[in-house]
Amino acid sequence: MCGIIGYVGRASATPVLLGGLRRLEYRGYDSAGMALQEGSELLVARAVGKVAKLSEKIDLTWSEELQGRCTVGIAHTRWATHGAPTEANAHPHRDASQRICLVHNGIIENYRNIRQKLEAKGHVFVSETDTEALSRLVGEFYKGDLRQAVTRALRQVEGAYGIAVMAADEPGVIVAARKGSPLVIGVGEGECLVASDASALVAHTRRVIYLNDGDIALLKADSVQITDIDHAPIERDVADLELEAAAVEKGGFEHFMLKEIHEQPESVRNALRGRIDAQQGTAVLSGMGTSPRELAEIRRIVMVGCGTSLHAGMVGEFAFEELATISSEVQQAAEFRYRNPIVDAHDLVIAISQSGETADTLAAVREAKEKGTMVMGLVNVVGSTIARETGRGVYLHAGPEISVASTKAFTGQVAVLLLMALKLGRSRHLSAERGLAIAQQIQSLPELIEAVLAQNDAIAQVAAVIAPHEHAFFLGRGPMHPVALEGALKLKEISYIHAEGYHAAELKHGPIALLTPGTPVVVIANQSPVVDKVLSNAEECRARGAQVIALVSQTGSAAVADQVIRIPDCDPLVATIPAAVALQLLAYHVARLRGCAIDQPRNLAKSVTVE
Ligand code: G6P
Repeated sequence: MCGIIGYVGRASATPVLLGGLRRLEYRGYDSAGMALQEGSELLVARAVGKVAKLSEKIDLTWSEELQGRCTVGIAHTRWATHGAPTEANAHPHRDASQRICLVHNGIIENYRNIRQKLEAKGHVFVSETDTEALSRLVGEFYKGDLRQAVTRALRQVEGAYGIAVMAADEPGVIVAARKGSPLVIGVGEGECLVASDASALVAHTRRVIYLNDGDIALLKADSVQITDIDHAPIERDVADLELEAAAVEKGGFEHFMLKEIHEQPESVRNALRGRIDAQQGTAVLSGMGTSPRELAEIRRIVMVGCGTSLHAGMVGEFAFEELATISSEVQQAAEFRYRNPIVDAHDLVIAISQSGETADTLAAVREAKEKGTMVMGLVNVVGSTIARETGRGVYLHAGPEISVASTKAFTGQVAVLLLMALKLGRSRHLSAERGLAIAQQIQSLPELIEAVLAQNDAIAQVAAVIAPHEHAFFLGRGPMHPVALEGALKLKEISYIHAEGYHAAELKHGPIALLTPGTPVVVIANQSPVVDKVLSNAEECRARGAQVIALVSQTGSAAVADQVIRIPDCDPLVATIPAAVALQLLAYHVARLRGCAIDQPRNLAKSVTVE
């Protein structure tokens, strides 16, 4: 989704800002723009399309010498919400005097109201965006003190924002503020940066300040002052960024997605490190911060998340019920607070989010806290808003996930949910023997994933069968049902093939009508108590001319399949992870064969910070 980078320092701002925008490209966007301070003037350049287009435009319009002397600027990648991706709608936006520039992530919900009032005063809007209303409002309040003007404007605003603002009359100053959209400040030597995502800062500094909702920061080359909306000073800690610049590079792989798929033995190992107690057959998850008594009192688990994280929760549901005999359910985070959720102090709400910034998941966390429920985060990005607001939970330690299509976060989430279920199970009825057996299987996950990655070439051949089609089905049962949903999601996200994930037994209640000769149907038929039933469902598809691509266990029967992908023999809950890896690779190769922009699929955003 939209990205922000701002720089105030001594170096030329243009390369810093363009470099930052490139680091933010992965979030998904459709136009980009930049504003520089040149003495007491503001220069603005904007372009539809990729950052490369903006860069070309900048080089055509601003001389090298001019770029060299401008050391303060803000820049933005826009993912269209209000108005099409056009140059007029791209950020930065200006106020009526053209002497204030602003970039914005989030949505100003009462912008129509603000716009009408400003139009009544004679403002002529030049874009369809909610952001222009805010930039004009800042201009209305500007009397030579930018921070003051921003504060007054924000008092009138409803919705979510992360903003960076500059005024022509205040050289060397950027004002940044957040509510609902993340912003992080980078503190360098004689320079300061602000970005919506720490990955845009990592090339410049490791010292960062995470802003909280309601914070307003005044950035100069050698100082950062943070206040609240009533101008009261706020102290925020400077944290060390635990992010290696190399972690946000492709490292020799053709795409970030392929790199991240291959990182999974390591990322899952990191998620498990130090967390398995092989003696007791249980898990050690200190971040949960729960006493044995609190654990024993949990009556129900409700997981909330969106997209891939929602699917991970659906696997978790099976794990909690089977290993811990705790009734559990998954709710779409977007619905949670609107359906009057029935949760109380005996429930545990787990918010699952790779980014820790998804607006709907964050809203669900706040709603659950309001209801007095115990809330935990299952988050990858350290220091993210959900991680901070839940205050307890388990980090995935998967490292930065750059590809929009989530891969290693999913396997990390499922691995950690298995650990949580194991821990809760052992605090209740699960025997030491069964706990130990499961713990050993979880521990072997890196090798199980390696075994799937070793079939890369065979999976690429299967992909060639799917690539020419426009429709595909993914079937699974039990914990493999969400894996089928996830496999279908991966395929549609990056190859644009219409793919449906379905419960294997439900197919005949409707969607089977869509099967035509040749339709690819991916069936997950691993070793499980219902494998024969799944194979019968596969037969039903084949009888209608569909091509069956079966994921079967190493020793399982492949008689029903036109194409076979083998996954290791293991416990059905644990097998969800190698099965998901196989489907990630399958989607990747299909998308590659179709020539798709794998790391930046059309219309998608990595981190969805609007509801
Ligand atoms: C977006 C991403 C998905 C992700 C979902 C939830 O839609 O494209 O890959 O699963 O958001 O994100 P989260 O960061 O909360 O896991």
